[in-house]
Amino acid sequence: MVGETRKRKADHIRICLTKDVQSHVSTGFEDIHLIHEALPEISFKEIDTTTNIFGYRLSSPIIIAGMTGGTKKAAKINANLAEAAGKLGLGMGVGSQRVAIEDPKQEYSFRIVREKAPKAFIIANIGCVQLVKGYGVDKALKAVEMVEANALAIHLNSLQEAVQVEGQADFKESLKKIRELTQTLTIPVIVKETGSGISAETAKKLEEAGVKGIDVGGAGGTSWAAVEYYRAKELRKRFNQELSLTFWDWGIPTAISLIETVKTTNLTTIATGGIRNGIDVAKALALGAHAAGIALPLLKTAAENVEKTVWKLKRIINELKTAMFLTGKKSIEELRKETPLIVTGKTAEWLKTRGFKPEEYALRKPL
Ligand SMILES: Cc1cc2nc3c(=O)[nH]c(=O)nc-3n(C[C@H](O)[C@H](O)[C@H](O)COP(=O)(O)O)c2cc1C
Repeated sequence: MVGETRKRKADHIRICLTKDVQSHVSTGFEDIHLIHEALPEISFKEIDTTTNIFGYRLSSPIIIAGMTGGTKKAAKINANLAEAAGKLGLGMGVGSQRVAIEDPKQEYSFRIVREKAPKAFIIANIGCVQLVKGYGVDKALKAVEMVEANALAIHLNSLQEAVQVEGQADFKESLKKIRELTQTLTIPVIVKETGSGISAETAKKLEEAGVKGIDVGGAGGTSWAAVEYYRAKELRKRFNQELSLTFWDWGIPTAISLIETVKTTNLTTIATGGIRNGIDVAKALALGAHAAGIALPLLKTAAENVEKTVWKLKRIINELKTAMFLTGKKSIEELRKETPLIVTGKTAEWLKTRGFKPEEYALRKPL
């Protein structure tokens, strides 16, 4: 059982590093247009990307999204990611800690994160399915203690569970279990999707259950149906292979899920799912996100070394600053609250049909 979980974790890393696991639907950020400011009236040098999340300072609003742990290779990846996060003053999540909760010998692959990044904002991670299967406050606390976490993420992965060969497609009473945790834990609980997005209705339910943050984990980046497609193919499970293929592009695109969440709740919101450059980050923040999360591109660099990971993140931060310069925004607060933008195409159509008013974003600073 424990061995199976570790093997699955190793498969996920190998498949994500060697196959095309990208969703074919886009994030929706191509429908979000920042307006060029030809007279920015600021100097690039004075742009400040520092921000606060749950009271913790980040030097830029970027979080390395939770991915891995539980194997030797995962430990190395986690170490490289944590070193990069520590060096650059960014936040970081770890992958599902179930593997180490069930087999304490694997704890080192998560503990390494806190060793390499003693001061970073770190997010522990457990699966909603594990809550449904009986994980209580004790297991959640164990995950938190393992990485001396500043917040706990509960991940939602109903698509993956539904198509995976060994999937446990049971989310009964999950909201109740989430509420039990929010009522007991003293650190913020974040609920995160993993590539299929969170709707306005679900975001509202989570807010009412006491959750403090939502990571929308929308469609447009890594597709878990894609990852499970390759596993099912290797395992010669034709039924799951076909099922995964059918659902490859399932989900709410990241930009849409983000707008639905920020317009419906007052929660701290993280935009993850297909964030690939600093313009994506700038657009997510201008739409109201507090930070953006990045997974797959950093898995690839961290599987190599720290230097490539730091370089990639510096590139994204510099792109974010450039987008801020070109929209005349000196601070993250200004970017989040005062940036007019235009929402077009499928994203605007979706939002209008759902009763949102995307045109409000265009009118933030009347001429
Ligand atoms: C190899 C890999 C493993 C992942 N494992 C987890 C996990 O254990 N828990 C979790 O909450 N999310 C996990 N994720 C999902 C990411 O946090 C993120 O939501 C998703 O990959 C979308 O972001 P991206 O398009 O930047 O990859 C994983 C992603 C990858 C690539």
